[in-house]
Amino acid sequence: MKTIFSGIQPSGTLTLGNYLGALKHFTELQDDHNCFFCIVDEHAITVPQDRLKLRNNIRSLAALYLASGIDPEKSTLFIQSEVPAHTQLGWMLQSISYMGELERMTQFKDKSAEKETAISSSLLTYPVLMAADILLYQADIVPVGEDQKQHLELTRNLAERFNNKYNDIFTIPEASIPKVGARIMSLQNPLKKMSKSDENEKAFISMLDDPKKIEKKIKSAVTDSDGVVKYDKENKLGVSNLLVIHSICSGESIEELEVRYAGKGYGEFKQGVAKAVIDILKPIQDKYNALIHSDELDDILDRGAEKAAPIANRTLVKAKKAMGLGRVKKKKGQE
Ligand code: AMP
Ligand code: TRP
Repeated sequence: MKTIFSGIQPSGTLTLGNYLGALKHFTELQDDHNCFFCIVDEHAITVPQDRLKLRNNIRSLAALYLASGIDPEKSTLFIQSEVPAHTQLGWMLQSISYMGELERMTQFKDKSAEKETAISSSLLTYPVLMAADILLYQADIVPVGEDQKQHLELTRNLAERFNNKYNDIFTIPEASIPKVGARIMSLQNPLKKMSKSDENEKAFISMLDDPKKIEKKIKSAVTDSDGVVKYDKENKLGVSNLLVIHSICSGESIEELEVRYAGKGYGEFKQGVAKAVIDILKPIQDKYNALIHSDELDDILDRGAEKAAPIANRTLVKAKKAMGLGRVKKKKGQE
C-alpha cells in the first residue's frame, strides 16, 4: 500500500478552495492508502500569529479534517509540533539546501514582497521543513493544490541530494494535483486564487459560512456581461470558476451544467451554484459543531501523535546516523 502525506496550515478557517483542492481528495484516498494528515502549526508561525487564535485554529482545523470525512481508524491525523522529529529533520535538511534555491520559491517571493522589513528567516526556510514533514514518513504521494508544486520539486531535490551524499534513506515523493479544483479562484478577482487571507471577505467562502452568507457571496461573485453560462478560461474566468465549483460540489460534469443553464441568466445559475455549495458544506458544518468541543477530538489527536512519532523517529535515527550526528553507543565490554 502506498503512503500518503499532506498538511494544512492552521492559519484561519479553511475556504471552499481548501476543501475542493485538498480535503475532498484526502478523504477519497484513505481507503486504499496509508495516510498521514498533519496540522502544520510550525509552518503557521513563519508569519506573526496571535497565541490564542493559533490555538483555536489548530483545534478547528482538526475538527474540519474529521468533519470532512477523515476517518481516524484509517488515517493518522496529528499536530506537527507534537512530533518533534519534524523540526529536527528540518534543521538537518537545511544544511544541504541552498539559499539560492529557497530564494527562488514563488511563495517566498510573494509573501516577502508584501513586507519590507521583519521578514522572518523561517519564511525562507519553510519549504525545507515541509520536505522534512514528507520525508519522515517515506511518503510516495503528496496530494496538494497547484501552489505547492514547486515545494514538492524542492522536496524531491533535497531527498535525492541527501540520498546521494549520505545514504539512500528517503523515498522520492510525487505530487498529486487534482485535475479539476486544483485552483479555485477568488470570487471577486478570478485572476487570484481563493485564499483565506484575502482582505476582502466576499472573495472567499469559508467552510463554516452559514447558508445565507454563502448565497450572498456567490450572488456578488464577479462574472461578465454576456450572460452565457459557458466554460471559457480565456474570456470568462468568473463564470468558469463558478462552473468548476458547481461541478465538483454537485458531481455533475461541466458539459451537463452548460446544458442545464443554457438560455438561463446568471441569477438562476448563481442560485444553483449556491445550492450545490450549501448541500456539500452543511453536513460538514453539523459534524464540525458536534466535534469542536468534544473530548473525542483530543483523544483522536493524542492517538495520532502516538502513531506518527515512532514512524518519524525511525527515519530520523537513520538520517542522523547517515550524517554522523550523535554517538554510536558501544556495547558494554567492547573496545
Ligand atoms: P493553505 O491554505 O495554503 O495552507 O493550503 C492548504 C491546501 O489547500 C494546499 O494543498 C493548497 O494547495 C490547497 N489550496 C489552497 N487554496 C486553494 C485554492 N484556492 N484552490 C485549490 N486548492 C487550494
Ligand atoms: N506548505 C503547505 C501549504 O502552505 C502546507 C504543508 C506543510 C504541506 N507541510 C506539508 C503540504 C507537507 C503537503 C505536505 O499549503
